[in-house]
Amino acid sequence: MLRALLIHLSENRPMRAMAERSILGLRMSRRFVAGTTVEEALAAAQAVNRLGMGVSLDNLGENVTNAEEARQSAQVYQRLLHEIEQRKLQANVSVKLTHMGLDVDEKLARELVSGLVAKAGGSNPRIFVRVDMEGSPYTQRTLNLVHELHRQPGNAGVVGAVIQSYMRRGEQDVEKLLAEGIRIRLCKGAYKEPPEIAYQKKSEVDANYVKLTKMLLKSGIYHGIATHDPRMIEAAIAFARQEKISPESFEFQMLYGIRRVGWRMRVYIPFGTEWYPYLMRRLAERPANLLFLIKNIFR
Ligand code: FDA
Repeated sequence: MLRALLIHLSENRPMRAMAERSILGLRMSRRFVAGTTVEEALAAAQAVNRLGMGVSLDNLGENVTNAEEARQSAQVYQRLLHEIEQRKLQANVSVKLTHMGLDVDEKLARELVSGLVAKAGGSNPRIFVRVDMEGSPYTQRTLNLVHELHRQPGNAGVVGAVIQSYMRRGEQDVEKLLAEGIRIRLCKGAYKEPPEIAYQKKSEVDANYVKLTKMLLKSGIYHGIATHDPRMIEAAIAFARQEKISPESFEFQMLYGIRRVGWRMRVYIPFGTEWYPYLMRRLAERPANLLFLIKNIFR
């Protein structure tokens, strides 16, 4: 119930506006968010790289309501791509389509993401663009766009998708992406979805996660296994060992501020002023973190 409440609150605009402007909110967000500026994000990326891990930079923001905001968000990503190349960071970017204006004008969102993929593909070395997966109203459109961009000349391997194992359609989507050689990040899913389209029990979500992990690892394409769940991680490692899959042929991915593992790993580094929905989803996954954040404030 607390999870549902926190996810509901993550979509509340007045709460979001209030929290993102408050000093207290900003302090709470620091547990999971690397800072509010590009410079802070790049510094965090450098620090994580020094520990031998790759990163994926996410300029926080979603569901923008006008074209200007979408263009500004794309500008931030253009700058990130430039800095990644200049500073030779072991980094890629993660982008949400509703941050690129999908709710405002689908054509504009396509144009902006296409510009990012072009810039990433033209970098030396090439940088990868991950299109994050949002709630189910966006699933099909997000996958369509990734397929479309990936088919364009020069874009193969530069853009990839995310699959959520709580979605019943996950396996079919994985099959279609694999058929075109598209890189996938597999996660469990962070939104509230109805039982008709999504598994509700943790045991079902986990069973599907393990099943999809095996499909990804066997595909010969470089994928990301994104989870903090020790049982999912152990299952992936056991399968890789059993099938003699090289540790270099996939990576684990985890969110900034949570945990790490001794295999090839990428840390997802979120930053920016629009941290509220992201923080609320992290609390929904693990309400114990709420207590942790409150304790930290009083310390
Ligand atoms: P789960 O939530 O089942 O937790 C299992 C165990 O992991 C817990 O018992 C605890 O030990 C640990 N754990 C999990 N979350 C924790 C937390 N916040 N703090 C501390 N410990 C925690 N979702 C989405 O819908 N679209 C997307 O594009 C992405 N992208 C993405 C990228 C990356 C790199 C990651 C790691 C995750 C995402 N997600 C996502 C979020 C994902 O769907 C999921 O909500 C979270 O990863 C939590 O699920 P877990 O697999 O970690 O396990």
